[in-house]
Amino acid sequence: MNKFAEQVVAEVVSNKRVGAYHHMVLSVGDLANHAKPGNFVAISVGGAGSSMVLRRAFAIYRATGRESGVGYIELVVAPHGQGSTWLTSRSAGDGVDLVGPLGTAFGIPTQPVRALLVGGGYGSAPLFGLSEVLKSRGCRVDMVLGASSAMKIYAPLEGKRSVNSLTITTDDGSTGIPGKVSDVIPELIENNQIDIIYSCGPMGMLEAITKIAVEKDVMHQCAIEESMACGIGICMTCVLPIKGEDGVIRMLRSCIDGPVVNGENVIWDSNREIPEGTWGAL
Ligand SMILES: Cc1cc2nc3c(=O)[nH]c(=O)nc-3n(C[C@H](O)[C@H](O)[C@H](O)COP(=O)(O)OP(=O)(O)OC[C@H]3O[C@@H](n4cnc5c(N)ncnc54)[C@H](O)[C@@H]3O)c2cc1C
Ligand code: FES
Repeated sequence: MNKFAEQVVAEVVSNKRVGAYHHMVLSVGDLANHAKPGNFVAISVGGAGSSMVLRRAFAIYRATGRESGVGYIELVVAPHGQGSTWLTSRSAGDGVDLVGPLGTAFGIPTQPVRALLVGGGYGSAPLFGLSEVLKSRGCRVDMVLGASSAMKIYAPLEGKRSVNSLTITTDDGSTGIPGKVSDVIPELIENNQIDIIYSCGPMGMLEAITKIAVEKDVMHQCAIEESMACGIGICMTCVLPIKGEDGVIRMLRSCIDGPVVNGENVIWDSNREIPEGTWGAL
């Protein structure tokens, strides 16, 4: 587990609706000092006595206020089911039981590179903080944001400000280029001579990006959104077949060995079964 993880009662500082999402700022104290782009938090939902016993995972959109000694994290939450709807109904001053920062973070290159950041829906959340870090290291940053419709593109204006170029795609064509993010990536790789792709979004999108990255021989780090019941490595519900550097496939927990992994190491077509030859399988 992330060695910096701690459990805190975070105070909701603000909660604003932005398109299909809620942008929430939580006061978390020192925890913010250790949050890196790609990390997530696991939040207890429903309040005391709730039947919703499982924490819900949310990517850290941004961590701020470190210098002042008062730390904040920001989240982008889609009211989806009961838990996320409960969270987005919290008001300023309410307390939220939170564990974080959890999971692995995006690897930051030591030399300036040309990076392409690709986000699907709320999956764009961790990419803005990542973009800031990459820009501060002298990297060129291009971004693609995709969603089913215009309402589900998160923060297009902020995207435009924080990167060298922003491309938007929507399935229904309500804004940007009609189609999927994977339709525009090959051309962006060629035109901008991309060295590395960072992505976050639905599993199908990550698989499609991996195929392109392998074909084009570009590194690809992705933040996986596998269903997580505990978020801290205990329940094994989030396991995925991932090939190690030694070529051996292992069932790894995406909450502690991920969520950020090398896309080309994931066995995307396992159909939720343990692939033949996996370490420890009969
Ligand atoms: C790393 C990560 C980052 C995420 N970041 C964001 C984000 O930034 N913004 C955002 O809006 N959403 C994010 N999500 C998705 C978010 O966690 C889910 O939408 C949320 O759990 C929905 O909870 P709910 O109660 O509203 O939905 P419901 O569908 O009512 O409940 C989901 C619950 O069921 C459990 N569950 C579902 N399938 C399984 C399974 N196969 N095995 C075990 N348990 C299961 C989940 O753990 C969860 O507790 C992220 C998910 C992950 C894994
Ligand atoms: S979510 Fe429980 S082990 Fe990963």
